Amino acid sequence: MTDERSSTRATTTDGGAPVSSDEHSLTVGANGPIVLHDHYLIEQMANFNRERIPERQPHAKGGGAFGHFETTEDVSAYTRANVFQPGVRTDTLIRFSTVAGERGSPDTWRDPRGFALKFYTSEGNYDMVGNNTPVFFVRDPMKFQHFIRSQKRRQDTNLRDHDMQWDFWTLSPESAHQVTWLMGDRGIPKTWRHMNGYGSHTYSWVNAAGEKFWVKYHFKSDQGVECFTQHEGDQMAAADTDFHTRDLYRAIERGEYPTWTLYVQIMPFDDAKTYRFNPFDLTKVWPHGDYPLIEVGRLTLDRNPTDYHTEIEQAAFEPNNLVPGIGLSPDKMLLARGFAYADAHRARLGVNYKQVPVNTPVVEVNSYTKDGAMRVRNAVDPVYAPNSYGGPSADASRTDDAGLWYADGEMVRTAYTLREDDDDFGQPGTLVREVMDDAQRARLVDNVVGHLLNGVGEPVLARAFEYWRDIDKDLGDRIESGVHAKQDEKDPKADEQGNPARSSMQAKA
Ligand code: HEM
Repeated sequence: MTDERSSTRATTTDGGAPVSSDEHSLTVGANGPIVLHDHYLIEQMANFNRERIPERQPHAKGGGAFGHFETTEDVSAYTRANVFQPGVRTDTLIRFSTVAGERGSPDTWRDPRGFALKFYTSEGNYDMVGNNTPVFFVRDPMKFQHFIRSQKRRQDTNLRDHDMQWDFWTLSPESAHQVTWLMGDRGIPKTWRHMNGYGSHTYSWVNAAGEKFWVKYHFKSDQGVECFTQHEGDQMAAADTDFHTRDLYRAIERGEYPTWTLYVQIMPFDDAKTYRFNPFDLTKVWPHGDYPLIEVGRLTLDRNPTDYHTEIEQAAFEPNNLVPGIGLSPDKMLLARGFAYADAHRARLGVNYKQVPVNTPVVEVNSYTKDGAMRVRNAVDPVYAPNSYGGPSADASRTDDAGLWYADGEMVRTAYTLREDDDDFGQPGTLVREVMDDAQRARLVDNVVGHLLNGVGEPVLARAFEYWRDIDKDLGDRIESGVHAKQDEKDPKADEQGNPARSSMQAKA
């Protein structure tokens, strides 16, 4: 009789040698002790003990897929980047994520979604590490760490805490635009396939003649934008924690390949000096009336990962992965990100993380780095530059960082210089009044009321009402009366259940 479980492939150790049993350890007699030289048992236990690597600090929960980007239009007047030349097709990796939740947290919590893309271009890897929102909560990197901590867990209870979140937001009025997005319908996408992706920051493009432009990226979902209501998101979080991960995987498995059309807004280089607000301020969008969308090409996702650990968990996206024709800008957040990600990868994955196959470019690497933990690619002599022995030499004509923009001044710690239209509440007010319809505004009010009622106390609550009145007077009034109406009908013990730490702090106060 043949064993149904038998396979044509014999189990081996990690060293490739055959092992005797998948089920039994080596013992002295059937009931005797395990022997230390059962090397295979020890290999299994040791590997298991080391399986977990640190999760990403923000954006820990996510999923991804492989695909390609095809440039269908001619934007060569604005950039010389090969990836964006007409007809060029480039392999890609994408990772979608939530921001605040841990690796096992529900996909359908209200949160911005990460939209991180790696283009394996013929000029090296280009990463566009964006979100599903065109703006962000803060405009100075000094506040980023504090912002993320306010969204994660309290130190005492280990619980997430809406009071902490609103405390930070209401003390940071520049967050108003992104918070309006977050609390509106788009705060819970129905699936990753049904949301847009944005570069959010302003980047620079340089064409073959050396002319410079400022650019913003918009990846518009060809599936359309669809969202969950708060109730639907909550139901789904309970029914299927991994709903978005599953949806993407299953869609690709069925051959329903999701696509996004890339558009850019282009600002002539000199406009930035005199535009009515600072075009590098990450809390603002550029009105399409001023800078219309220009089509570039199409992103298609058509291949699932086969090993989430090696292909998604160890994927390392970094805004500093730039190619000729594409650069950063004087956005302070973006400049800080230019440092932060590679540092995070060194801490999370180790110094040679770019040798993990998913992070390896398709082009030849001729860098002068050598050695370090888990180095697998051979370095070759000479290992220093300059040298007289034929080592690679830098070619400035293939890069754009020098001369990209001009800066001069004393060293200061201060906000961007204000311009005519540089206020925090104008654009979110427009979003509420001119982009949302009545039903969307009603859901926004409900979402904010529900969020505030979940553990936000004084003085933060009163500040939250003012914050919303600054965005839109009527909206703020509706939020305040909505909260008061619910408080009146609410069991006084309810808050204690919702947020014990907050209630006990309030009691002490
Ligand atoms: C992930 C830092 C702002 C999008 C991360 C990670 C760090 C970080 C350390 C974890 C990286 C890892 O371990 O792999 C920062 C800093 C910021 C900033 C210091 C501002 C100063 C932003 C903004 C966006 C963004 C404005 C979007 C426009 C993302 C995405 C990921 C991420 C999508 C996940 C990437 C992936 O899927 O692996 N960020 N971030 N971040 N960040 Fe940021």
